[in-house]
Amino acid sequence: MPLPPLREIPPEIACLDDYAAFARERMVPQAWAYLNGGAADEITVAENVAAFGRLRLRGRVLADLKDGHTAVELFGQRFDYPIMLAPVAFQTLAHADGEPATAVAAAAMRAGMVVSTQSSTTLEEIARAGRGPLWFQLYIQPDRAFTEALVRRAEAAGYRALVVTVDAPVNGVRNVEQRAGFALPPGVSAVNLQGMRAPAGHAARAGDSPFFGTPLAALAPTWKDLEWLRGLTRLPLLAKGVTALEDAVRAIGVGIDGIVVSNHGGRTLDTLPATIDLLPPIAEAVGGRVPLLLDGGVRRGTDVLKALALGAAAVLVGRPYVHALAAAGPAGVAHVLHILRTELEVAMALTGCRTLADVDRSVLHTA
Ligand code: FNR
Ligand code: LAC
Repeated sequence: MPLPPLREIPPEIACLDDYAAFARERMVPQAWAYLNGGAADEITVAENVAAFGRLRLRGRVLADLKDGHTAVELFGQRFDYPIMLAPVAFQTLAHADGEPATAVAAAAMRAGMVVSTQSSTTLEEIARAGRGPLWFQLYIQPDRAFTEALVRRAEAAGYRALVVTVDAPVNGVRNVEQRAGFALPPGVSAVNLQGMRAPAGHAARAGDSPFFGTPLAALAPTWKDLEWLRGLTRLPLLAKGVTALEDAVRAIGVGIDGIVVSNHGGRTLDTLPATIDLLPPIAEAVGGRVPLLLDGGVRRGTDVLKALALGAAAVLVGRPYVHALAAAGPAGVAHVLHILRTELEVAMALTGCRTLADVDRSVLHTA
């Protein structure tokens, strides 16, 4: 039996990674495997973290740090610090209070939160709990009318941006859930999608094509759908899951407002490079036309600093805050944000950066 959530946070939890062991004892093994798993050999999962570890910083001393801050403006919204919570599905697997608990923590810490289409609590209920700056992550559904209704619901509930995830058209073929032998337990489901007509199920038999030729492939989102979405909403629109500079440039041509450089935390195409290694060429091609965000492997304030140095305007963190949610509920999530923010400010001070405007490639050591 999993242990109950901690009632207070023990002093031995001092960094994001410290939460993992406490979370593991508080989740059923299948849910733990789903949360932490990645595609195939999980090479990209490991690489996201390892690549940050390979970069070295350049310390600077005696800088004037008076009036320093970490504020950033994105799409007319001001954030005190450039760290947001990434969309992670089915958070009631981690903690009974699920996404509303995460939203309470994000609001208390005045951090941005991106709510998943596949949340286990309705997007309306999360918005009522949160009252912070919430963005909605959209999976374009096979049923485009239902997709439009989702967008309208997010608008009506007060979400301030739409993050369309473009890197997972094959979810449902052979995904990490299947790898972990995972079926959602009773009471946990994609409640936002209730009532949607699913395309006829495809029972792949031996000799059948598992993806091509199926409704899943026929109805997978394309560039046309991104154009359609752009015309559908006035909310700021971000594309999440872009890893190739040609796609970044094309998305800007469609009129998107921002890009999340992401490899889905290593859960889609294994052996994609680390996102921090993908960022520089994308930043160069985009040339500041739209803000870039990055996720994947962000575990330390120094990682945040490195991402900003290489062209990100902000970062998102995924698994670690869900570990904290499992371990200690909303207090854990708030603690994770506080730790990362503290580490970022310390890293800025020690590299001589007073504000984010000072953070550029000069904070990186080059041999
Ligand atoms: C995700 N991610 C994700 N992304 C998305 O756009 N919609 C979603 O519903 C989900 N669901 C989801 C579930 C779980 C369990 C995980 C771990 C991840 C991807 C997520 O937004 C983000 O890209 C990665 O988690 C970032 O990597 P790190 O911080 O987990 O290394
Ligand atoms: C995942 C899907 C839900 O990564 O995005 O599990």
